[in-house]
Amino acid sequence: MLKQLETLEKEAIQEIEQAESLKVLNDLRVKYLGKKGPMTEIMKQMGKLSNEEKPLVGAKANEVRTEISTKIKYKQEGLEEAALMKQLESESIDVTLPGTKIPTGTTHLLTQVIDELTDMFVGMGYRIAEGPEVELDYYNFEALNLPKGHPARDMQDSFYITENTLLRTQTSPVQARTMENHDFKNGPIKIICPGKVYRRDNDDATHSHQFTQIEGLVVGENITFADLKGTLTVLAKHMFGEDREIRLRPSFFPFTEPSVEMDISCFACGGEGCRTCKGTGWIEILGSGLVHPRVLEMSGIDSSKYSGFAFGLGPERVAMLKYGVDDIRHLYTNDLRFSKQFIAKEMGER
Ligand code: DAH
Repeated sequence: MLKQLETLEKEAIQEIEQAESLKVLNDLRVKYLGKKGPMTEIMKQMGKLSNEEKPLVGAKANEVRTEISTKIKYKQEGLEEAALMKQLESESIDVTLPGTKIPTGTTHLLTQVIDELTDMFVGMGYRIAEGPEVELDYYNFEALNLPKGHPARDMQDSFYITENTLLRTQTSPVQARTMENHDFKNGPIKIICPGKVYRRDNDDATHSHQFTQIEGLVVGENITFADLKGTLTVLAKHMFGEDREIRLRPSFFPFTEPSVEMDISCFACGGEGCRTCKGTGWIEILGSGLVHPRVLEMSGIDSSKYSGFAFGLGPERVAMLKYGVDDIRHLYTNDLRFSKQFIAKEMGER
């Protein structure tokens, strides 16, 4: 019987060691230690043994039982750990894998042009100024030397809200608002004002009932036409290339005297004449002039002491010229196929 027990122990240990799953191991537990197993069988036969043999076989049987259950316990721990490792491995995250790209969008072409221009002026010490889009007739027209009934008001067909309020037709009212509140103890006025404006126009390839403008205004002591010319030259070169030249043509705006329109030498042909410049070699960019003394006075500024210049330009026109956009509506209809062609350089491909 001792022999039998030893063989049983050997067999059991071998099978336990080979068990590859917890299920198999459990079956082995039942097989060797269960009620119907060989151990129970041997115990049953103990009664037939002599009194000398009984304790020996009993001790051996206990030893074998303990040995088998210990082995099963170790094996179980081993299998459980292996299963855990396998699970951890399968669930591990490779942090070096490239992530899924989330489309974040980019600035619109118009915003890019506006940012480029305002950034340049901020770099020259200008402050960004803002004003309301629902504006008083007073600031939009009267304070800019366009009294009620003035024929030049017809140049800017307006959306009136009440008799005295309208959607501003230009960013120039910000000039009047700024001058009215300025204290020259804080230095000269140097502002750049980007913003939306509205006109009662029928939308077509070159007209939009809403568009944007950028206004510039400098007022201080001894500000002259030479300052204006220098500033506009810097603007033209910055936006359209270092070898641009500018040309100033006499014009009329009620709030400037003298008034000029600035042309730049054509960036497409260099001035020889082509489709972009309609054969003239020059492209009209903006309106400007020296602030009319009456406009200064209306805002409470002493025109015998202070003088200034102003200019106003359309970012749509700049964008269309610079990037060959043939219809202003492309800038407002938000077709992604259009917008995506002008992903801001600093943002890269998305
Ligand atoms: N406000 C003018 C317009 O909408 C543009 C303009 C012209 C603005 C001359 C100015 C200026 O400040 O000096 O047509």
